Amino acid sequence: MVKKFTFNNPIYTGAVVADIKASSDTLPYFEHKNNSFLYTMSDTTAVYGLGEAVRGINKRGWIYEGYCSDDPCHTEDKRSLYGAHNFLIIDDKSNGGDRFGVFFDYPARITFDIGYTDTSTLTVSTEKDDIDVYIIEGESLRKIVKNFRSIIGMSYIAPKWAFGFMQSRWSYFTKDDVIRIADSYKEANIPLDAIFLDIDYMERYKDFTINDERFPDFENLVSYMKSRGIRLVPIIDAAVKVEDGYDVYEEGKAKGYFCKDENGDDYIVGVWPGKTVFPDFLNDEVGKWFGDKYKLLTDMGIEGFWNDMNEPAIFYSEKGVERAFEEIEKYKQISLDANTFFDCRDVFAKLSNSQEDYNAFYHNYNGKKYKHNDIHNLYGYFMTKSASDSFARHNPDKRTLMFSRASYIGAHRYGGIWTGDNHSWWSHILLCLKQMPSLNMCGFLYTGCDMGGFNGNCTRDLLLRWLSLSIFTPLFRNHSACGTKDQECFAFGDTKDFKNIVDLRYRLVPYIYSEYMKAVLNNDMYIRPLSFDYENDEMAKNIEDQLMVGESIMIAPVYTQNANGRYVYIPENMTQLKLNADGTLTQSKIEKGHHYINVALNEIVFFIKDGYCVPLCDRADNVESIDENSIKLYGTGKSYELYTDDGYTTTPTLDSIKIIGK
Ligand code: GLC
Repeated sequence: MVKKFTFNNPIYTGAVVADIKASSDTLPYFEHKNNSFLYTMSDTTAVYGLGEAVRGINKRGWIYEGYCSDDPCHTEDKRSLYGAHNFLIIDDKSNGGDRFGVFFDYPARITFDIGYTDTSTLTVSTEKDDIDVYIIEGESLRKIVKNFRSIIGMSYIAPKWAFGFMQSRWSYFTKDDVIRIADSYKEANIPLDAIFLDIDYMERYKDFTINDERFPDFENLVSYMKSRGIRLVPIIDAAVKVEDGYDVYEEGKAKGYFCKDENGDDYIVGVWPGKTVFPDFLNDEVGKWFGDKYKLLTDMGIEGFWNDMNEPAIFYSEKGVERAFEEIEKYKQISLDANTFFDCRDVFAKLSNSQEDYNAFYHNYNGKKYKHNDIHNLYGYFMTKSASDSFARHNPDKRTLMFSRASYIGAHRYGGIWTGDNHSWWSHILLCLKQMPSLNMCGFLYTGCDMGGFNGNCTRDLLLRWLSLSIFTPLFRNHSACGTKDQECFAFGDTKDFKNIVDLRYRLVPYIYSEYMKAVLNNDMYIRPLSFDYENDEMAKNIEDQLMVGESIMIAPVYTQNANGRYVYIPENMTQLKLNADGTLTQSKIEKGHHYINVALNEIVFFIKDGYCVPLCDRADNVESIDENSIKLYGTGKSYELYTDDGYTTTPTLDSIKIIGK
């Protein structure tokens, strides 16, 4: 089912955990020449995959890169975002053509020209010809994903509370801010499971510190919030502040744990705290050291983290900024014209995330020295691994919430990811929808986007519509950037509509958690494109704004402003379930075909496959207080396979499934 083809001396990434010997056959499907792999597509070939990327579920017609990038503007002209997920599925089976999966295991920049330069050619190129290529066969698209996932290892499992609603902002600056957020949600009777702490909870952006003035008696705050059913989730950034007397810096420096420049000195870059250094997570000893630091916070009762800026993001390097100041001098004396003005303006803008910097520092990986750019895509992955390994060492019997911004396939075993700094744009509801199935193909099941949008100002209608997608994503978090308008559900006046929708999420948690766990344990997809369930339905192949969620549900969220509904393609007879404005649910039958469905801002509509059921429980204030005895089944099926466990166990099995009947 899976064949490995090794070219020259690839760098070991750890993405694949199955022991597969390299085949001596010739690589099928592709022509291999000059560091490139070429495949000829027919007019009807669809190309899926690439995880976190811009554009469609069908990736055809654009040029993408696997290169972890800190880019806060996810427009469709971009080639890469924060993750490098080099897995593709090529499908032309329904027209008698090929259908196979392919994984390019390569830790540096890799380019996927999918019919961009030449409409019918897929060209995958790397700088060096040292690469492992895996060809994955399977009887269906879903089976190809399963076969791929079976070689890369089981996906990360989040604790059950992390399936509740979570509120974030850059930043809640003080203890009082945090309590105010919890109180406001309580007052609105909107359930809440977690509040996130962004960089300002730290003392001057130093990892593993707490600002005692703004968060006095932090440990007490953590336990007080937990007594109210709410977890606090702090951020951890990749770079460590250079500061004498700061223990993390001093220890790391003394032990030689930071990435070095070509002279063997610590490589200094600027990030949030000013001058910082990068822990060399690729070095096992460093990973263990950094991972153990999370214990400072878990000892205070913290049960979850988000890892950020780990592409790694570089505002500037010490050397780069020196050069920029020298360069800017020359513009002082001249009258800036069309060329020089823009050049001058760019002198500082060009400093961030520059190739020059990524080529100027080194890692010690498996006992060998590597230039950063040669293993760039592993950095965030190994940061997350170091945290996850530490949780397993110190808290082996309990799941810890962990999700990261940067990732590579392999990181899906250690944490989830969120899709980074999107915008409060209507088009970004749709972008999120399209990213979800692609991420599931690559093993990232615990995932979601910043609901409401990170950059820019969100409006009431945008947040309501965003919820109608996000209530189905495992990671269900509202987050926004500093300087933007308040984006909490209580920030837009009347809260009743938000309450009904978030309540519905909690009513769906038994289903969402159950389907997620089954997907993890079966190496399956929790969220799928329609074409994966209806392979021979040519219409389904074209649907890019509806999704299958778990075994029973199809969703078709409204993602345009001022629309009072949308067209939905129903691929087979289904049950339509509608959340009404008063919080009640209405079931009705809907026939295969195209329909215009009216959905007011304060309503949610989704669909249940014929012969299937969806369990819905009563609303709850948080995940832990969900009463599974209140479950009722909706849809035309007779029973539902409910996966249920304590929400923490680190050795889940499919034996935890019980059949519940109507
Ligand atoms: C990055 C993260 C964002 C966070 C911000 C401040 O932009 O992507 O989520 O709020 O940094 O830490």
